[in-house]
Amino acid sequence: MAVGVTELQVFVASPGDVQKERSRLETVIKALNNDLASGGKLRLRLVQWKTHTHPDLGEDAQDVINRQLVNLGPSDIFIGIMWKSLGTPTKRAPSGTVEEFQRAYDLWKTNPHSHVMFYFNKAPVPPEAREIKQLNKVLAFRKSLSKSGLIAEYKGLKDFEDQVRSHLSKLVLNWNLDKILAGEDTAASSGTSVKSSSIWPPPPQPPGLFIGRKEGLQALRTRLGLDETGQPTGKPQPVAAMWGIGGVGKTTLAAALTYDQHVRKAFPDGILWTSLGERPTLLSAFARWGYAFGEDGKTLASANTLAAARHELGRLLQGRRMLLVVDDVWASEPAIEFKRIRGPDCTIVFATREPEIAAELADVPPEQVYNLPPLSDEAGLELLRELARAVVDEHPEECLKLVRALGRLPLALQVAGRMLYTEAKKQRGLVEKLLNDLGAGKKLLKAKAPADRIDLERQTIPTVAVLLRQSTNRLDKTTRERFAKLGVLPRPAIVDEDMLRTRWRVKDPNPTIDILVSRGLMEPIGDGKYQIHALLVSLADSLLED
Ligand SMILES: Nc1ncnc2c1ncn2[C@@H]1O[C@H](COP(=O)(O)OP(=O)(O)OP(=O)(O)O)[C@@H](O)[C@H]1O
Ligand SMILES: [Mg+2]
Repeated sequence: MAVGVTELQVFVASPGDVQKERSRLETVIKALNNDLASGGKLRLRLVQWKTHTHPDLGEDAQDVINRQLVNLGPSDIFIGIMWKSLGTPTKRAPSGTVEEFQRAYDLWKTNPHSHVMFYFNKAPVPPEAREIKQLNKVLAFRKSLSKSGLIAEYKGLKDFEDQVRSHLSKLVLNWNLDKILAGEDTAASSGTSVKSSSIWPPPPQPPGLFIGRKEGLQALRTRLGLDETGQPTGKPQPVAAMWGIGGVGKTTLAAALTYDQHVRKAFPDGILWTSLGERPTLLSAFARWGYAFGEDGKTLASANTLAAARHELGRLLQGRRMLLVVDDVWASEPAIEFKRIRGPDCTIVFATREPEIAAELADVPPEQVYNLPPLSDEAGLELLRELARAVVDEHPEECLKLVRALGRLPLALQVAGRMLYTEAKKQRGLVEKLLNDLGAGKKLLKAKAPADRIDLERQTIPTVAVLLRQSTNRLDKTTRERFAKLGVLPRPAIVDEDMLRTRWRVKDPNPTIDILVSRGLMEPIGDGKYQIHALLVSLADSLLED
């Protein structure tokens, strides 16, 4: 191995009926290593008993494998694959694959840098008695893992390949950035030797590109009791809430905050991260944090009632100075649970799209709740330049126009930047047209979001429209229809009560205005006027089409 190159060991375990998936995994890893070669610092090494063990005398076949694998050291990434067979029983477990999984799982519990993922094939199984028996065992095993959040389902080889590639790419990206941002040396010889990160679990998207957020970062640091130089000025607020429209960069900013060296110093006992989403499962969110506390967190990690988990987490947070980041909040009730377990020396940072929820969660007057704005023109252009330098250098004015047309929204700029880059590589002549089309919003809404917005549950990358529609899907039918009617307005849209009264054909538009404002879809800008973000107007337009 070349000097300065870190190798992450990927261990694959499976019974014999998914041999094709194993070969695909080999192909995926080879391709990823080729891509990684240009960066030069990281490689993946696939370990499987087929290639890393030799015949030996031992207790049973699996025991021989185990002892030989121990010599290789613990793996950084464990990948299990199963379809219709659990495999051959060993003396210690229902099958060799299950035994290998259990070893990896135990390691995962103590080392937050290791990763475990189990893939189950959903393809139908021929109804033969022998196979049904094995299949039932697989189903039981799968069920035992279902709460852990460590499983993925696939349908066919191609789907397996896509999922495993996206999963591994994301891990590599996270691993790299985690090390770089934490200022650790990437030249260590094995990934497993790196000391644990103090954020658990790692945020879903360590900021790859992080542009134009000096003020945003300071706004949050101030709430954590840190001044411009990062020095403590007083006691941190117990709760800080931030809101901002979809794709404005809340998760990215919160993630950046957790990697800030001064913030880490201010919370020496560590940082806990959770992303609630639209259907939060509080018990698993709490229990997962148990792993951050090592031995002390075992009861929490295995708690099976919310009351027990709440009690245990409350106990663990007593006397600890920790930062709790609760991201992607869609309702105040589950989020309030975190305030109940907060230790006296801990701070919670909440992030949500909806100003009303932020105001409910923060213990300060609504006007002091932090509203994360879109980027400035300069930062927006810089972001575009980072992604499509040649295009911005060649068409600076059109690009600035595009930045404005997209309302300086990082999500939109990320997507636009990548599309421009690809187009410029293909056919230079079409870049102008793309610049124009993107500004209109329609094309952009239909495009896939950046890879860091992968839906881990479904293992797919949603379109920009799907992400933004999370907000409009929650509106009642009438309000949604009224919002859709705003899609024909110029972007960004400036409206007032009279105009909305006519457009919606209602006597009093205020109740609907109030809902849209409380959901962050419309913003009061004084003088009885309201503004709707350019991309949200495009979104309204797309609703009209449906
Ligand atoms: N400051 C930034 N510099 C560069 N890219 C950014 C920045 N902020 C956000 N992004 C990118 O924009 C996209 C949206 O960001 P992010 O997911 O943080 O938004 P969000 O406000 O959390 O959205 P949601 O409301 O959907 O949760 C991501 O792909 C992210 O990488
Ligand atoms: Mg987010």
